[in-house]
Amino acid sequence: MHCVVANWKMNLTSDEARIFCEEFLGRFVPEAGIEAGIAPPFTLLRQVSDLVGTKGVRVFGQNGHAEAKGAFTGEVSMPQLKDAGCSGVLLGHSERRQFFGETDAALAKKIMAAWQWDLLPLLCIGESLEQRDAGQTLAVLGQQLSILAETGPGPLWVAYEPVWAIGTGRRAEAPQVREAHAFIRAEMLRHGADTDVPILYGGSVTPESFPELLAIPEVAGGLVGGASLDPLKFAELIKQAG
Ligand code: 13P
Repeated sequence: MHCVVANWKMNLTSDEARIFCEEFLGRFVPEAGIEAGIAPPFTLLRQVSDLVGTKGVRVFGQNGHAEAKGAFTGEVSMPQLKDAGCSGVLLGHSERRQFFGETDAALAKKIMAAWQWDLLPLLCIGESLEQRDAGQTLAVLGQQLSILAETGPGPLWVAYEPVWAIGTGRRAEAPQVREAHAFIRAEMLRHGADTDVPILYGGSVTPESFPELLAIPEVAGGLVGGASLDPLKFAELIKQAG
């Protein structure tokens, strides 16, 4: 199975999202073995899920709180994501770790909360440039995946997103992706995960670079930022994954 997920981050208004969905659906052809998803900002979840959810496109929240409700101003819970039409949730994106202090301990709780509300967690992991240069890449990935010892196995997608490749136009080279994905797979198995958990790559994915990535056996698709804001490019990436 191949998966291509658009992470819109903090972009688009409702008018822009409507135009995106119209243009995207004009090109999108659902295919067996391909999972397409969009992770819009919270304000657009209901609208996007109404527009694309019935056409075989998954809708993901970009974050979700571990508690079901309560005094957590500015947060959105898993049942609220579900209520807005989501079937999954991105967790641990590097921007959440870097700018909002997301910790591994919090992520373990969030994964279990997502399962409780029947949402598919898409766990994002990846090393910074400093960590790569210091030869710590695999240690960092191993640490980020160690939360699976706490959560136990369950439905999960993982995205390997080297922080230095996000939004920089500097995509990781094929041998780097191959090494990281093979290591992630081995760690997942060690933690009792199913052999078919999809491991996506994210970081400056474009229609120009995606075919080379998809040729790597352990790459099950892409988590796409910048290029996914263009409906034609996003549709093209899904086609390439078919
Ligand atoms: P870019 O595709 O813009 O590099 O972003 C990747 C990303 O962070 C997806 O979650």
